[in-house]
Amino acid sequence: MSIVFSIITQKGGVGKTTTVNALAASFNKLGNRVLCVDMDPQGNLSFSTGADSNDSPTVYDAITGRVRVTSCIQHTSMTDIIPSNILLTGAELEFTGKNREFILKNILSVVDDKYDYIFIDSPPGLGFLTINALSASDYVIIPMLPDIFSLQGLVQVYETIEYVQKASNPELSIMGILINKYNKRSKLHKEALGTAQMISDNLDIPIFNTNVRNSPKLAEAHSLQTDIYSYCPKCSGVKDYDKISTEII
Ligand SMILES: Nc1ncnc2c1ncn2[C@@H]1O[C@H](COP(=O)(O)OP(=O)(O)OP(=O)(O)O)[C@@H](O)[C@H]1O
Ligand SMILES: [Mg+2]
Repeated sequence: MSIVFSIITQKGGVGKTTTVNALAASFNKLGNRVLCVDMDPQGNLSFSTGADSNDSPTVYDAITGRVRVTSCIQHTSMTDIIPSNILLTGAELEFTGKNREFILKNILSVVDDKYDYIFIDSPPGLGFLTINALSASDYVIIPMLPDIFSLQGLVQVYETIEYVQKASNPELSIMGILINKYNKRSKLHKEALGTAQMISDNLDIPIFNTNVRNSPKLAEAHSLQTDIYSYCPKCSGVKDYDKISTEII
């Protein structure tokens, strides 16, 4: 049985893909069998992990039943991954019937015994694709930036998770809020962290003890399609994600 994590929030550009990439690298390094699932039509995770999403079957082919899920898994030098591309945008319109929130869960059940951990990247937004990710998951991680816009979105994310817990996945637990691109010397970031703490106390959502620092090497590794541990094993972002992995375990 694998443990499934989805990384979600409606905010764009806050580190969902970076978190999936880093956690997959970290858990792979520890000798686990890891599968990543790219549920974002932007395909950023597919690119950063070196998967081909142009000429190979993708998660769209798997959920529409065109290709067996096992045939959609690619084994890159970084991780196993089911890639995604822009075709996934059409899935929401194709699936309109009952049980449409379980489409991803159903295909992952086929490979459940082959992996220890499955990490699902999701698009910005809280729509059909994100609901599918949450319905297939044991745990959810919510990345956010230490700023007012991310804070404003937290309650909405929480309400979506509550909805899924009631409607389709009562087993879903919130692993925590992950503060990304944190600068401990910034007064604004410290204040945002304090507010996030207050919101998390009210909603009873944990915040990871480790904040991920701004670490441009992470972005470089993604654009070079390189494993962060080969590219910058000692950079601050890698050290922080190592600590996050330890907290998760
Ligand atoms: N800790 C960090 N330090 C430096 N750069 C980072 C960090 N985290 C993320 N980035 C960079 O910020 C940008 C946005 O990150 P990322 O793509 O992971 O966000 P996202 O939430 O997945 O975005 P989207 O909503 O578009 O899917 C990327 O260029 C990424 O490389
Ligand atoms: Mg992303």
